[in-house]
Amino acid sequence: MTGTASFDDYASIADLYDHVTPYRDRPDIAFFVEAAVESGGPVLEVGCGTGRVLIPIARAGVDIAGLDGSPHMLAECRQQLDNEPDVVRSRVHLVQSDMRQFDLARQFALITIPFRPFQHLLTVGDQLACLEAIHRHLADEGTFVLDIFNPSLDFLVKLPVGEEFGEEPEFTTPDGRRVIRRQKTVAQDRFAQINDHELLYYVTHPDGRKERLVQSFRLRYVFRFEMEHLLARAGFVVEHLYAGYDRSAYGSTYPGELVFVARKNPSPR
Ligand SMILES: C[S@@+](CC[C@H](N)C(=O)[O-])C[C@H]1O[C@@H](n2cnc3c(N)ncnc32)[C@H](O)[C@@H]1O
Repeated sequence: MTGTASFDDYASIADLYDHVTPYRDRPDIAFFVEAAVESGGPVLEVGCGTGRVLIPIARAGVDIAGLDGSPHMLAECRQQLDNEPDVVRSRVHLVQSDMRQFDLARQFALITIPFRPFQHLLTVGDQLACLEAIHRHLADEGTFVLDIFNPSLDFLVKLPVGEEFGEEPEFTTPDGRRVIRRQKTVAQDRFAQINDHELLYYVTHPDGRKERLVQSFRLRYVFRFEMEHLLARAGFVVEHLYAGYDRSAYGSTYPGELVFVARKNPSPR
């Protein structure tokens, strides 16, 4: 196994994740729920995290397996599932595993990898290992949905390395912690297309105690045609490429997202 995956980097912030304003307001849930219902299931979500997308899919009546490498994110997901009715819980199966190497001994009508877990994979070897594992688990007529951010050339050029940035509204957790989040890019490797990021959480506890939590991780940015080539090498064909979860066409907005809807290539070379 080459490179490093960063699923343990979520340890310190797993219980904050669902409350972070841009995560909470992310407009992708209806898209993934619709794809799940349309597929009829079962669904596999790779990098399911706290269940932000997985739980709404189970609520919509679809059987779903969630795979994640982080025991902390999965613990958070299990805690949230505890608040769901038995019928919803019974539709969910969680697995702790590395997305580069897993064997669930079954296939799925739909496999998704929402909100960019794929960008935690830092080498072509790791990217292909993940895509090949997904290919083995996808039913022949199944659908694979993968999203990554479209790297903004302006942003990459102007990226303020070493400086805190990102104005986000303060959020409050159910137990009364007030949190302000900022971001920092610590290093930029333009050759490997990897940025070292920090997400800084400034926490004020209800008793006034202050804490600063740091989530450090490395992300590889991937361009549109690079992703298409990776998918082709792993035996997929791209059926749709969207710029957002409203199914807007790629190219209609910049930078937008890159949302790939792919299928198994029936006649790989
Ligand atoms: C940004 S979160 C996305 C979570 C969820 N899909 C969502 O939409 O909210 C990325 C997730 O990928 C997981 N992850 C990162 N690298 C991984 C790996 N190599 N294997 C499995 N999970 C991994 C992290 O633990 C984290 O839960």
